Amino acid sequence: MKGLTDKRILITGSTRGIGHAAARRFIAEGATVLIHGRQALAVQAAVADLSLAEGPAVTGFSGDLADRQACDRLIESCGDIDVLVNCAGVFETATVEASGEDLWHRVMEVNVTAPWRLARGLLPGLRRKRGVIVNVSSDAGLLGYSQNAVYCASKGALIGLTRALAVELSGDVRVLCVCPGPVDTDMMRSAVASEPDPEAARRSWASGPLLERVASPDEIAGAIVYAASSDCSFATGNLIVVDGGTTAGKRV
Ligand SMILES: NC(=O)c1ccc[n+]([C@@H]2O[C@H](COP(=O)([O-])OP(=O)(O)OC[C@H]3O[C@@H](n4cnc5c(N)ncnc54)[C@H](OP(=O)(O)O)[C@@H]3O)[C@@H](O)[C@H]2O)c1
Repeated sequence: MKGLTDKRILITGSTRGIGHAAARRFIAEGATVLIHGRQALAVQAAVADLSLAEGPAVTGFSGDLADRQACDRLIESCGDIDVLVNCAGVFETATVEASGEDLWHRVMEVNVTAPWRLARGLLPGLRRKRGVIVNVSSDAGLLGYSQNAVYCASKGALIGLTRALAVELSGDVRVLCVCPGPVDTDMMRSAVASEPDPEAARRSWASGPLLERVASPDEIAGAIVYAASSDCSFATGNLIVVDGGTTAGKRV
């Protein structure tokens, strides 16, 4: 894809899952990738995994995005970047009655507040570089799912943030939102494993998309890289929905 060589790209949540697959693709496009995750050891392992002898440099930072000071440290450490990919996210399932204030704040801090803080803090460099912000939301930002009110609210808020930033920053920074459907990552695997009947839960995750399967992380990573590239230069404030047809409709 065009326009990614030598770009500096911060991807939150890139120690595993979708963010890690996106990092691998950006590196293949000649970009310099800044890995980020909560745990320092996982960041070190991801940097080692992605570092190629002849390839562009890979750097890593760790910190809990639920912590405002950790967000500030990340902003200071990064310097100017060309692309911010807000991919880190948390998924917690609970009925409305069982969802307390703690759960609400935990999910909102990572899924909405951190993307807003990072976009705000990194904005001077992003403006100078005519950069791109790619937020990773979900089909759950577009549909309601039972026992997922907080997660759905957080992903819907991220879509709203995307659109408002795109309007306000137009001319300087493009802002896009990738909305994946179900993806085979640790997030999905631990949600499936926590159900009383994990096999039925796995079938249920795979039954939503018209394609009747879950995606691989790489199938979402391609959309993230496209959004950041100059092949996507006429899009801003838009959603790129990669959900296997989940939101298109249902068979009757
Ligand atoms: N998997 C799906 O089915 C699916 C579907 C739609 C949307 N999404 C969205 O796609 C994004 C990536 O999901 P995934 O499935 O790849 O998740 P994952 O496999 O669980 O990986 C999550 C990543 O986010 C990081 N992270 C989580 N909480 C963090 C925190 N408080 N501070 C810093 N980093 C944190 C993790 O770092 P550590 O390793 O250090 O914990 C890890 O690198 C999320 O926003 C998710 O909501 C996923």
